[in-house]
Formats: sequence, C-alpha cells, structure tokens
Amino acid sequence: MPETPVIAIDGPTASGKGTIAQRVASTLGWHYLDSGSLYRIVALRALRTGTDLGDGGALAALADGLAPRFESGRILVDDEDLSDAIRTEEAGNAASRAAAQPLLRAALLGLQRRARRAPGLVADGRDMGTVVFPDAVLKVYLTASVESRAQRRHKQLIEKGFSAIISDLLRDLAERDARDMQRAEAPLEPAKGALVLDSTRLTIDETVAAVLEAYRRRVAA
Ligand code: DC
Repeated sequence: MPETPVIAIDGPTASGKGTIAQRVASTLGWHYLDSGSLYRIVALRALRTGTDLGDGGALAALADGLAPRFESGRILVDDEDLSDAIRTEEAGNAASRAAAQPLLRAALLGLQRRARRAPGLVADGRDMGTVVFPDAVLKVYLTASVESRAQRRHKQLIEKGFSAIISDLLRDLAERDARDMQRAEAPLEPAKGALVLDSTRLTIDETVAAVLEAYRRRVAA
C-alpha cells in the first residue's frame, strides 16, 4: 500500500512557508506540520532553564517525551499555551542555534514522522524534503528576497503586538539564513527535484495555486 502522501515545503526564515503550507493543507483536507515550532519549543525550554544552546545532549533531553498539542491554531505543551512565547525573535534565534545540534535533530525526528497521517501531510521547515520526508510526493523550496521577508516579518510582529525595527530584522534574518544554510547537519538547501518558488512578487493566493498546480501535475504524471 502506498505511504500517506507528503508535500514538503522548505525555505528560509519568513519566506511565508507557514501560511502557504497551512493553506495548501486546508485546501487538500490534509494535516499540517510546523516543524519549526518543535525547535522553538525546545529552545524556549532551554532559555527558561538556562540550558546551553550548544549542548546537543542537554537539548535532546529537553525534547524527550515532548508531546505538543496543536489545537485551533494554538500550541499547547503540558497544558501551557506557548503559541505566543515561541514566536518572539529571541525564541526564533535560539531555535536556529539549537537546531545546529545533530543530537537534537535526531531527537525530534520520530515526532515529526509520526505527524504523517492519512489522508496526507503538508510539512514545513528546513529539511522536510531532504531528511525527514525524502519520499515526499512534492518538494517545494519557497524563498523570497531578504528585504521582502524582513518586511513580512515586521508586519507579522507588529500585528501580534510586538515591537520590531526593520534594520534589526534584516540583520537577524541574514544571520539566521547563514546559520541554517551553513550548518553541517541537515543544512537548508533545495531538495533534489524540488520546485524552487520565489514568492517575492507573488501574492499568497498565487503561491498557493502554484504549489497545488505542481502537486496535481506530479500526481497526474
Ligand atoms: O521555521 P521557523 O522560523 O519557525 O524555525 C525556527 C528555527 O528552527 C530555524 O531558524 C531553524 C530551525 N529549524 C530547522 O532547523 N529545521 C526545521 N525543519 C525547522 C526549523
């Protein structure tokens, strides 16, 4: 029996992966995995407990038994709603640093793969197509210019009531891109055969349509 299909959407910070992946998932009636949220949860735990973000073993221990619940757009861990706390730039930067640790990546692998449930899964992250779901039916590498990503992130943060300065965001995004792309383990890069989609000049609707069209073509082929 064929495995439950996966659409993998990878790309740099603030490329719009989350919005696009959720829209594709809801159009198809599939499940959605926000893999970055798992790294963010562990990073937040590390910040709260004073754990060294370079200590892979300690980070893996923080991921042990992690069972987040995704309910109505909120993320609950041990009954605490962490949805807002993990979205700060501090948590995102800490997640990027923690994610360079192979032991943590290995510790989160099973949790991510268990999200593959019928009728299908749309997964977003950095290594969905390269490492976690190498047999994904469609792999998308979603990108956009660093300036437009900084502007989108700025809008998102302001809407959530956080303060943010574009020039700081630009610097942080560039640093995170470099760290996520240059790490030795599961670096961010387009998977073999990935559809590379630059959304700088595309609307959300156009980007979603391009992914769905590519999926339909793959299935028909
Ligand atoms: O997608 P995001 O910005 O929420 O991810 C936060 C950090 O987590 C990102 O900078 C790198 C890391 N990450 C990763 O290494 N692999 C993934 N599949 C998802 C996120």
